[in-house]
Amino acid sequence: MKLAERMSRIGTESAFEVLARARALEAQGKSIIHLEIGQPDFPTPQHIKEAGKKAIDDGWTGYGPTAGFPEVREAIAEYISRTRGITVSGSNVCIVPGGKPIMYFLMTAILEPGDEVIYPNPGFPIYESLVDFLGAKRVPMPLVEERGFSFDLTTFEQALSPKTKLVVLNSPGNPTGGVIPKDDLKRIADLVRDRDLVVLSDEIYSRIFYEEAPESITQFDGMLEKTVILDGFSKTYSMTGWRLGYGVFPAWLTTAIERLMVNSNSCTASFTQRAGLAALQGPQDAVDVMVKEFRRRRDAIVAGLNSIPGFRCSTPAGAFYAFPNITGTGMSSKALEELLMTEAGVSCLSGAAFGEYGNGYMRFSYANSLENIEEALNRIRRVSSRWT
Ligand SMILES: Cc1ncc(COP(=O)(O)O)c(C=O)c1O
Repeated sequence: MKLAERMSRIGTESAFEVLARARALEAQGKSIIHLEIGQPDFPTPQHIKEAGKKAIDDGWTGYGPTAGFPEVREAIAEYISRTRGITVSGSNVCIVPGGKPIMYFLMTAILEPGDEVIYPNPGFPIYESLVDFLGAKRVPMPLVEERGFSFDLTTFEQALSPKTKLVVLNSPGNPTGGVIPKDDLKRIADLVRDRDLVVLSDEIYSRIFYEEAPESITQFDGMLEKTVILDGFSKTYSMTGWRLGYGVFPAWLTTAIERLMVNSNSCTASFTQRAGLAALQGPQDAVDVMVKEFRRRRDAIVAGLNSIPGFRCSTPAGAFYAFPNITGTGMSSKALEELLMTEAGVSCLSGAAFGEYGNGYMRFSYANSLENIEEALNRIRRVSSRWT
C-alpha cells in the first residue's frame, strides 16, 4: 500500500542517522569519537533521579491531566515568569513529552497550505520538515556568521509578507550556538507586533550560555499575546530520555494545543513530571557545574578547530555546539563529514544537515569529555593533509 502523499514531504533529523552509522562502525571494531548528538553527556542530577524513582514507588504511574499536573504547570509558569521577566500562569502551560511536540502541535494548529514560515537556516531541521509536511511555504532566513549567527534584520524585514503566519526564533541556537542580541529581538518585535502572525521562540538552550544571559522576545510590549515559548528539561537538566518539555502559550491557543495533545499522547508520563518538579524546585548547582564544564570544552574546541588548516571557528555564546566555517578546506560539508567519520573516526554533522545555508560549515557537539575532544582534534589534524 502507498503511504499518504504528505509522507513524501516530511524530513528527518540526521543526527540520529549519523549516530546509528557511527554505532554500526563501532560494532565492526572501529574507534569513533561522538561529536554528533545533541545531548549533554552528564547524568541526570541525583535528586531528580531519586524523585522520579520515588514517584514510581508512590504510584505516579497512571494517566494525568492532558496538559500536565496543575502544580507542575504552576511551577513552570513561576519559573518562566521569573527568568523571562514576564507574567504567565499555569493555565498558559502545556506539558508535553519533550520540546519537539510543541513545534508539531503549534504548526499543526495554525498553518494552512501556502502560509509562509520564516525560520533560521542553518537551524533545527524539524522546523523545515514540519513546514514542508504541512504544505506551508519555506522562508529560510540565513544566519550571518559575522553577526554571531543572527539574522540580517533588513533581510528579515523584506521576508515578512501578508502571508507570514509564523516566525521561528531559536536562541541560543542549534547548530550555531548563536545568541540573538536584545537589540535584535526588540527590532524583530517592532517589525512583527502589528502583524497577524505567531512567533515560536525556541528557548530550549536558555540555561546554557557563556556571556550575557539570552533574552526572550516575550518581554517586549504586545509580544506575549503572539508568542509561544518552547522550553523543557532535556538540555538544562540532562533529561533527554525522560521526554519532558513544555510550551507557554497565549490563552487563545491553549485549547487547540490540548486537543492535539489528547489526540496523540493523552498526557505526559506522570512520574516524569514529578521528576521535573524536583528539577525546578531543587538545587540548581548541577546546571552551573555542567555549564562551567561546557565552557572549558568550548574554549578548547574553538581554539583547536581554529588551528586546523581550512577551518575558521567563531566562539559560540550558548548551547554546546561549535560551528566552524570549513570553506577553506575546499571540500563540501557532506564530503568532510564522510571523511572525518571513515578516516579520522570522528562523528560530526555536515552543516548542510541544518539547511542550505549550513553548507560550508560543520557542527561539532562538545557534549563529550575534554579528553575525547582533544583526541578528536588530533585525529582531524592528522587527516587534514587530505585537503591541504
Ligand atoms: C533547537 C532545539 N529545539 C528543540 C529540541 C528538542 O528537544 P527535546 O529533546 O526536548 O524534544 C532540540 C533538541 O535537540 C533542539 O536542538
